[in-house]
Amino acid sequence: MNHSMPLILLLSAGLLAACALPSQQSQPEPPKSQSLIASGKDPHSYSNPEQIKVRHLDLDLRVSFESKTLEGRATLVLDRAPGSDTAPLVLDTHDLKIARVESAEGSGTFRSSPFKLGAPDKILGAPLEISLFGKADRVRIFYSTSPAAAALQWLSPAQTAGKRHPFLFSQSQAIYARTWIPLQDTPSVRLTYTAAVRVPRELRALMSAENDPQQPRSSTYHFRMTQPIPSYLIAFAVGDLDFRPLGKRTGVYAEPVIADRAAKEFEDTEQMLAATEALYGPYRWGRYDLLVLPPSFPYGGMENPRLTFATPTIIAGDKSLVSLVAHELAHSWSGNLVTNATWSDFWLNEGFTTYVTHRIIEAVYGPQRSAMEQVLDRQELLGLMKTLPAADQILHIDLAGRNPEEGVTEVPYVKGALFLRHLEQAVGRARFDAFVQGYFDHFAFQSIRTADFANYLQQHLAGLHSTPVPVDEWIYQPGIPTSAPQPVSDALAAVEKQAEQWFSGQLPASQIETSGWSYHEWQHFLRSLQSPLSAARMAQLDAAFHFSQSGNAEILQQWLLMAIRNDYAPANAKLEEFLVGVGRRKFLKPLYSELAKTPIGRKRAQSIYRKARPGYHPIAVATIDAILNWKNPGNP
Ligand code: BES
Ligand code: ZN
Repeated sequence: MNHSMPLILLLSAGLLAACALPSQQSQPEPPKSQSLIASGKDPHSYSNPEQIKVRHLDLDLRVSFESKTLEGRATLVLDRAPGSDTAPLVLDTHDLKIARVESAEGSGTFRSSPFKLGAPDKILGAPLEISLFGKADRVRIFYSTSPAAAALQWLSPAQTAGKRHPFLFSQSQAIYARTWIPLQDTPSVRLTYTAAVRVPRELRALMSAENDPQQPRSSTYHFRMTQPIPSYLIAFAVGDLDFRPLGKRTGVYAEPVIADRAAKEFEDTEQMLAATEALYGPYRWGRYDLLVLPPSFPYGGMENPRLTFATPTIIAGDKSLVSLVAHELAHSWSGNLVTNATWSDFWLNEGFTTYVTHRIIEAVYGPQRSAMEQVLDRQELLGLMKTLPAADQILHIDLAGRNPEEGVTEVPYVKGALFLRHLEQAVGRARFDAFVQGYFDHFAFQSIRTADFANYLQQHLAGLHSTPVPVDEWIYQPGIPTSAPQPVSDALAAVEKQAEQWFSGQLPASQIETSGWSYHEWQHFLRSLQSPLSAARMAQLDAAFHFSQSGNAEILQQWLLMAIRNDYAPANAKLEEFLVGVGRRKFLKPLYSELAKTPIGRKRAQSIYRKARPGYHPIAVATIDAILNWKNPGNP
């Protein structure tokens, strides 16, 4: 951590003269190259980009659903730093089978190059060390993936909505790109890419690149991503996919049987895009399309450039869960344009994105809805904080030796967003919006550290505000500063009151005033109910509001969680159906963890998991295996 200077942005204009902070005008900006990663190594990559940097990738891959492998070659174009003539090229790999390696200089012929695959680490995989001859600046690696590659999920036709064709998709964030491509798998390195992908003729292939919605089905698809992106944003999917336009620049790909429903749910996407541009400047990626994946997708959404990957569980029928689209769209600025250079800086991606999401929702759906989402977010953060060790409550988190996924909690998302909201409130919206837009422009297409943000903040926002913002505490300390903003929603406050009255027996379920409640109010209602509740009281709620039948996955998941806590047996079948049918990790983790708290629950969890596990993505499998101690179920 290099934050020797304590950062506290304070001070009213009157105090400014006495302030030790230099004013923004007199401070020259550090040269860009200096402000970047050069200063510190990414602990989650074996690569040596300070000596040799991969600047372009050309992929040629054949997809085999029979063997569940990708096979082909990756050609890497290298920039070699002066003085590193003898340095080997070190790449990240995980479960890759390397057949041979060749290198060449410019357009010269490729010659076989010696290589060495190091011992594999459970988290990081194995370094691939390649000796380059002479001034070679091109390397090609002939390889195949393992059927167990963590980034890839191979779905049988039965696991898709249409039931007739197989499906394949990748999930590279955080460090799984290396399970399907040998490369420098660190977000500090940006590269362009081209690809040729060979697939069964009746399927459509898509990548996080230029996709042509009009492209007819073919056995080979060609892709181009001409803007430099970090490796975790390289993405790929193949399936029976149709396209529906949503606007001039936006559209949605989905399996034919759900394409119309998806298009209806996401019809506001173009408007969200326009709203974000009005706030933060032009969208820089050409098209913005969505891809709806089968329900085993382990995340809600993934911001793959030009093509957000999304879970079908956000198709609720009433657009109530589309803030996920706003979130992934927001990453087109925060994350994809300005990128965290290491996973310790993940909050720069997700905190900004969560803040921007709230702003998009406010612009498109109004301040009330945004306020409700902020309150719900904050509540989740506060609940989680109680269970997290202090070190994991820090925005700039130390993840060395751990899987970066362990840093994916409400902390980078919601604490990060609260910090930015605090700055907004301190300097006023107009100034803060200009600052954020300036930040995106200044660092566009760069990968930056937390310290780069802090320096930029100090230079461009210090002295402009009238109330203190403890920047240093926000970034480097656990907990939440006492001066943090407290979002309020009158609508949710009213819900809370009724929930309390019902809970304490003053108000029968039939008299709860629910007319006009949106998803957010229902969600808050459920979350406001304490446990324990008797089975009879659960049944009352279910009879009045049919939670067990809810078509909204968030509500259903919350209800099922309560059903486990309160031993509400009528929901058992629904719980099993949900756990077997949905693979979104955010839903699975709390449900399995809740079940695992009692011996009987654990047994039930194991018997459900036995059925569900073959349908889950490797990323979800790893998480649930750990919760249930699956590899060694005898030892709870
Ligand atoms: N980039 C994340 C997903 C992610 C983070 C994948 C870290 C792997 C490692 C994505 O933008 C995200 O945050 N998705 C959320 C939805 C969002 C609305 C909070 C999710 O999947 O739940
Ligand atoms: Zn995100």
